Amino acid sequence: MTDLNIFIAKIPKVELHIHIEGSLEPEMLFDLAKRNAVTLPFANAAEVRQAYNFGNLQDFLDIYYQGMHVLQTEQDFYDLTFAYLKKCQADNVMHTEIFFDPQGHTSRGVGFEIVLNGITHALNDGKKKLGINSNLIMCFLRHLSEEDALKTLEQALPYKDKIIGIGLDSSEVGHPPSKFERVFVLARAEGFKLVAHAGEEGPPAYIWEALDLLKVDRIDHGNRALEDKKLTARLVKEGVALTVCPLSNLKLGVVKDLHHHPLRTMLEKGLKVTVNSDDPPYFGGYMTDNLQRIAEALNLEKQHIVTLTRNAIEASFLDQNSKQVLSKHLENWMLTIG
Ligand code: ADE
Ligand code: ZN
Repeated sequence: MTDLNIFIAKIPKVELHIHIEGSLEPEMLFDLAKRNAVTLPFANAAEVRQAYNFGNLQDFLDIYYQGMHVLQTEQDFYDLTFAYLKKCQADNVMHTEIFFDPQGHTSRGVGFEIVLNGITHALNDGKKKLGINSNLIMCFLRHLSEEDALKTLEQALPYKDKIIGIGLDSSEVGHPPSKFERVFVLARAEGFKLVAHAGEEGPPAYIWEALDLLKVDRIDHGNRALEDKKLTARLVKEGVALTVCPLSNLKLGVVKDLHHHPLRTMLEKGLKVTVNSDDPPYFGGYMTDNLQRIAEALNLEKQHIVTLTRNAIEASFLDQNSKQVLSKHLENWMLTIG
């Protein structure tokens, strides 16, 4: 392994963009299908991996929603979440902010509390047994109605101690942030932090809407911001973080190869960029893989990796004190490696 790859593997990390349902490994898909007597259209895990060839976001989402059917009980959600936290431990991820898609489950008759309890129980154990800190962000599926999102927000209100923020994901084009303006106004009034996927496939106008109408604290992806100079300048000036996902962008055809990925340009323009895994088994890698692959493709150096990590600490929804503790941990780690 190169010196840089060892550095990347070992550096303490923060992840800000991971869909917990998108962390379902093919082997666990089969285990849970057996546990819950679900028939899969695949013979084995290798066949599943072969199906992970996506032309665009929708191709992926079709398989992602199909995979969710094996998740039925609290134990299933616990196992899914704890398995991801073990990957965090292997990658030296100290803190992670996890998305979940309740509508993907409640629409199948799985109760909101079953989903939330399974995930939060695993997050608590992850903290106790693995030392991994976490926050939970509930996403609305943007291909569904405003009314459906409103109902989901109401379901979350008794659990504000467990859910730090609200996000927006699923099929982007044709479902602009403006569709959810009223729900986000309510969520903000309830004290939730706010994020939205924007500018992954959708135009820069969707990023403007996420900022101006939804008043988000971070933009998920945001790749297409670079097409609009005024927008880029605003994101830099306001220090709005972008949670960029290189291997996701590659697998969903957002970039044609990693050499053409905008991450380095984003950093050079002063955007507060972070690197994240999105849906790791579907896209071919967790945090360390994403950082190593993009560093190699764009000739990044250690200093870039440190900047990406500092950005993620700053852009997280941790309180000021916890951010300082993490920053100190990072600075101390850099001293130990000389
Ligand atoms: N849901 C899971 N992954 C997603 C992505 N990359 N974009 C939109 N919705 C998603
Ligand atoms: Zn995402």
